[in-house]
Amino acid sequence: MTVLTRRRLLRRAALSATAATAARVSARPASGVAISAASLLAAACDPDSPDADPNPERRLGMRFPDDFRWGAATSAYQIEGAAKEDGRGASIWDTFSHTPGRTRNGDTGDVAADHYHRWANDLDLMKDLGLRSYRFSISWPRVQADGTGKANQRGLDFYRRLVDGLHERGIEPMATLFHWDLPQALQDVGGWENRDVAYRFADYAAAVFEALGTAVPDWLTINEPKTVVQNGYLGGHHAPGLRDPDAAYLVAHHLQLAHGLAVRALRAESDARIGPALNLHPCYPADDRPETATATRLYDGYENRLYLDSILRGAYPQDVLDDLGPRSRMVRGIRDGDLAVISSPVDLLAVQYYTPYYVTTGGDTEKRWPTSEAFWQQIFPEGMFDLLTRITRDYGPIPLTITENGLPCPDELGADGAVSDPGRIEFLRDHFAAAHRAIEAGVPLESYHVWSLMDNFEWAEGYDQRWGLVYVDYPTQRRILKRSAHWYRGVIKDNTV
Ligand code: FCB
Repeated sequence: MTVLTRRRLLRRAALSATAATAARVSARPASGVAISAASLLAAACDPDSPDADPNPERRLGMRFPDDFRWGAATSAYQIEGAAKEDGRGASIWDTFSHTPGRTRNGDTGDVAADHYHRWANDLDLMKDLGLRSYRFSISWPRVQADGTGKANQRGLDFYRRLVDGLHERGIEPMATLFHWDLPQALQDVGGWENRDVAYRFADYAAAVFEALGTAVPDWLTINEPKTVVQNGYLGGHHAPGLRDPDAAYLVAHHLQLAHGLAVRALRAESDARIGPALNLHPCYPADDRPETATATRLYDGYENRLYLDSILRGAYPQDVLDDLGPRSRMVRGIRDGDLAVISSPVDLLAVQYYTPYYVTTGGDTEKRWPTSEAFWQQIFPEGMFDLLTRITRDYGPIPLTITENGLPCPDELGADGAVSDPGRIEFLRDHFAAAHRAIEAGVPLESYHVWSLMDNFEWAEGYDQRWGLVYVDYPTQRRILKRSAHWYRGVIKDNTV
């Protein structure tokens, strides 16, 4: 890896950093006239902004296919709490969030939305919304406290109750095996830098499949491997908090190896479907110079093809391998047969879309659209259409599901007991419409999960950023449907946006 590559990778815009960074980004609207980042920030979520739609609930008359499944998503560490109950071990996020200065306000997932105790009530809420699918994750340290050995039955029982409860309410479970909460004991032996951890993951997956395999029709392996790479090992603002590009891409390889091994483990156990959950970003050149097109192509390699080509085509993109260099730990870490494991046939691809990137000649990014409270997010619904149609065009008709898409807003519980979030409604409506256009263009999109069902622990941002359809009043743990949740119920009922 050259010094230049190293430097560029460390600069890479990473998800979910602190909002302070927003002030530093350069911002330019589509017209090319420079405006301040502050005015872009003001536009999203603000009902008084001149750009806000005064009637976000307005229907667009787009009807979805009859079997389309509307859903919502969460993840274990972000909602469960009960960090020390029923034999759960510590994860790297317990360690990280308890380390002073790592999360906003020192927030941790110790209690979170207390879903571990309130799951039945939360399932009733999902039923009330009319959800047809629920995407959640299983906590590895609940199933294996130290990441190895015999499965903890009490941990598995929790997920059994959850899955049974979903079926009782007519909601399809979609379970993710790993949403970033690596058992701390495995980090202590090197974490994802240690190839053996991929094999430990396969054992864990096998134990989960044995316990739940047939009751869960759709499995997802690893949530956003790229975020682990970029935020955990480049930006360092997610667990395990490192800034080491050489380690980062070795981790990328081992995460994908783990994915492939888990796919194979499922085949031995059940005929349920399985696939990866990838956060993908449409990458556009910031200008029409040929050098910018070249820089954008490489950016796309790191953001998208590194994960898509390996899993769906059985080869890492050559431009990324060349850029990392033959002496990089990743390239040296690829063994014969690894790509065959990584590209074990999958049944579906889970897509998570939040933001596009506009890439400059120098390989940096700049902003074109209003951002949200999450400084890294630009609101660009058209990106959803571009991304979905590109996947189908480049990788064929693999069934797609959207497993995350959403917007954080400064939601407040009003004196009237209501939470009004028209900005979120507008955001979702426009993204749903873009997904609808993609379906009409031939994209086999089966379902859509809004991030998130309810407010939760947003990693380094703690509880300050609210992404839910349902408001969580943390001191009382009361759940209140936001205006967007009421609207979403209507969309689901009519299957029409
Ligand atoms: C995604 C994560 C999810 C949540 C959203 C806002 O990258 O998978 O847990 O943090 O961003």
